[in-house]
Amino acid sequence: MKNIVVLVSGGGTNLQALIDDQKSGEIKGGKITCVISSKEGAYALERARNAGIDTKVLPRKSYADSKSYSEAILAELNSLNADLVVLAGFMTILDECVTKAYPYKIINVHPALIPSFCGEGYYGLRVHEKALEYGVKVSGATVHFVNEKADAGAIILQGAVDVKNDDTPETLQRRIMENVEWKLLPKAVSLFCQDRITVKNGKAYVDL
Ligand code: GAR
Repeated sequence: MKNIVVLVSGGGTNLQALIDDQKSGEIKGGKITCVISSKEGAYALERARNAGIDTKVLPRKSYADSKSYSEAILAELNSLNADLVVLAGFMTILDECVTKAYPYKIINVHPALIPSFCGEGYYGLRVHEKALEYGVKVSGATVHFVNEKADAGAIILQGAVDVKNDDTPETLQRRIMENVEWKLLPKAVSLFCQDRITVKNGKAYVDL
């Protein structure tokens, strides 16, 4: 059984999708043992507690910079013996001290079709604002491994939705979450826990 630690910052709908799939047995070979939040009072913590999962809060604002924050996160992950770290709406970029310690063991969900609308400054609703501003006709979400560059690690799964003429950032976000994120993130986690993702020359290949 792989030991899954989930990092969150906000509402936690992606965490909820993971919890629901864990309950229904769709996540095979792994178990969520702890949820760590970068914000006190994040609703994601409530979701974890309701599911009987341990929680920890490491407030980003209590640390001077990304490096000292990442070191604190790394110490937690090590003490929890994490096999897989899932960033589920985690709004802080982790320093390379974490990504180097967990190569191809950290998975993130990004709400756009990477390499579009990604990288530093592209998070949450901002991503959808930028996609609508540009006028793209499809958008979606990407589940990928995390490396030392923001949103640049090997892509595991992607899914697309149509953009509608009257979309707002909120309606587009919701369509992408419902149709892509809440399905593909648990699926990627399950594939990882069953050792069904292989990496060759920096690219991820999934045994579907
Ligand atoms: C999700 O859309 C997730 O893809 C995005 O924030 C939202 C969090 O929602 N993550 C990022 O932008 C990370 N770069 P949730 O807290 O309800 O899962």
